[in-house]
Amino acid sequence: MGKSALITGITGQDGSYLAEFLLARGYRVHGLVRRRSPATLARIAHLVEGPERSSDLLLHDGDLGDPLALRAIAERADPDEVYHLAAQSHVGLSFTQPETTIQTTGLGAVRMLEAVRGHRDRSRREVRYYQAGSSEMFGGSPAPQSEVTPFRPRSPYGCAKVLAHQATLIAREAYGLFACNGILFNHESPRRGEEFVTRKVARAAARIRVDPAERLALGNLEARRDWGYAPDFVEAMWRMLQQDAPGDWVVATGVTHSVRDLLEVAFGHVGLDWRDHVDVDRALLRPLDVDDLCGDATRARRELGWRPRQRFEDMIVEMTEREVERAAIDDATHGSRREI
Ligand code: NAP
Ligand code: GDD
Repeated sequence: MGKSALITGITGQDGSYLAEFLLARGYRVHGLVRRRSPATLARIAHLVEGPERSSDLLLHDGDLGDPLALRAIAERADPDEVYHLAAQSHVGLSFTQPETTIQTTGLGAVRMLEAVRGHRDRSRREVRYYQAGSSEMFGGSPAPQSEVTPFRPRSPYGCAKVLAHQATLIAREAYGLFACNGILFNHESPRRGEEFVTRKVARAAARIRVDPAERLALGNLEARRDWGYAPDFVEAMWRMLQQDAPGDWVVATGVTHSVRDLLEVAFGHVGLDWRDHVDVDRALLRPLDVDDLCGDATRARRELGWRPRQRFEDMIVEMTEREVERAAIDDATHGSRREI
C-alpha cells in the first residue's frame, strides 16, 4: 500500500503543485475544499477530469472554521501525512480583515492540529503534520533571516502565522506529534493568485503589450522579496515530512529583488519600458510593509538536501509568457478586458 496524504488548501497555488507531486510518487491524495460560488477548482481541474484525471485524488468538503468537519475529514482520509496549507494568504487584505485572518490563518491551524492529534490518538498510528509558515513572520527583523531570527511580524497575517507556528511547536513538544514548521519565503508561478504582485505585473505587461492605453497601478515599489518558484518549494515541504525527526526549516533562494526589478524583467520581456505604463497608487500602500526579506536556507540545504532550481528571471519570463497566452485567449473569447 502506498502512503496517503491530506492537503488543506489543495485548490491554491501550492496545494495544486503538491497534489501533482504526491500523486506522481504514488500517494493517495485527499484534499479539503471549501464550497464557494463560483467553484474554485481551476488549478486542479486537470486532476479531477479529463485525460490526466487521477482516481487517487479524493476531495472532501470542509472549512477551517468548522472543527467538527476537520475532525471528520481526518478520520475519513486516515492520512499518513497532513499538509496544512489552507489560509487567508494575502498580507494586504489582512489589514482590512484582521479578525477573519486570525480566525482562518491562525485558529484554523490550531483546529487542524487538534483534529490531527485526535486522529493520531484514536488510530494509534503516526500522522505527520506540515505547517505552512511564512517569512512574513520575520517582519521587521533584518535580512538575512534564518531559523534563529526573531519573529517581528508587521501584519495581522504575520501574527496569525506566528500563532500557527507556535501551536505547531507545542503539539510537537507537549504531545509528541511529528509536526514540522516550514518557513517559506515568497514563491510564485503561473498559478499565483492575480492579487499578488508578481502575477499582477506579469499579467499587466502582457495586456499592455497588446493595448498600450492600459495602465498598471501599484503600491510600494521599493519592497524587496526573496522570490522562488512554487514547484521547487512544495518539494521542500515533502522532504520535511520524510526526515527521521520533526523540525523547522527556512526555505528560500537567498537572492532578493525589488518590485522595480520585477517590473524591469516582466515589461522588458515584452519590449516595453515599465516607467511609461505604471502609476503609484497610494491606496495600494500597506499601513505597514516588510522592507526586505532574504532567506538563509543553509539548514534546508544541509539536512533536507533541498536546493532551488528555477532562477527569478526565468520564472518571471515564464509567468509573463503564460499571461501573453492567456491575454490572447481572453481577447479571442471575450474581447479585450480593460481592467488590470
Ligand atoms: P493560496 O493560493 O492563497 O491558497 C490558499 C488556499 O487556502 C486555497 O485553497 C483556499 O481555498 C484555502 N482556504 C482559504 N480559506 C479557507 C477556509 N476558511 N477553509 C478552507 N480552505 C481555505 O496560497 P498559496 O500561495 O498556495 O500558499 C499556501 C500556504 O502557504 C498558505 O498558508 C500561505 O499563507 C503559505 N505561504 C505562502 C507563500 C507564498 O509565497 N506562496 C509563502 C509562505 C507561506 P479557495 O481556493 O477556496 O480560496
Ligand atoms: N499584492 C500587491 N499588490 N503587492 C504590491 C503591490 C500591489 O499592487 N504593489 C506593491 N506591492 C508590494 C507589497 O507591498 C509587498 O511589499 C510586495 O509587493 C509583495 O507583495 P505580495 O505579492 O502581496 O506578497 P507578500 O510578500 O505580501 O506576501 C506573500 O509572501 C508571503 C511570504 O513572505 C504571500 O504569498 C504570503 O501568503 C506569504 O506568506
